[in-house]
Amino acid sequence: MVYTKWKQEFSTNIESIDNQHKKLFDLLNEFYENISKKSNNDLIGAVLREMKEYTANHFAYEERLFDEYAYPDAVQHKKEHDSFVAKVVDLENRFMGGTVILTFEVTDFLKKWVRDHIMGTDMKYRDFLISNGVK
Ligand SMILES: [Fe+2]
Repeated sequence: MVYTKWKQEFSTNIESIDNQHKKLFDLLNEFYENISKKSNNDLIGAVLREMKEYTANHFAYEERLFDEYAYPDAVQHKKEHDSFVAKVVDLENRFMGGTVILTFEVTDFLKKWVRDHIMGTDMKYRDFLISNGVK
């Protein structure tokens, strides 16, 4: 079962970024699947770590573009990235420490954050980056 799907309406019209967003959806599905199957904690922890690392790399990619072209909303956008990474790191630490169980509520939180961020915050840079020739 597919938990969540990248849709055309999520497109920024920037291929490199869309491809990274698609990969994030793949990881969300993989995470959801492992929770559904009640995979062992090592496996769930590994997927969570992969998601955290991929997300951090993706954010860094966007932020390099902001710096390169002096994107005016960079500070606010980076703040959103930082707070999301902090939440995921906290979740990972508490999961590894055995004080939190990863549930569908967690997957829903991650999914909603990713979708809302793409549709709200990422869309704001779309025209700016495209006009600077980013593909
Ligand atoms: Fe972003």
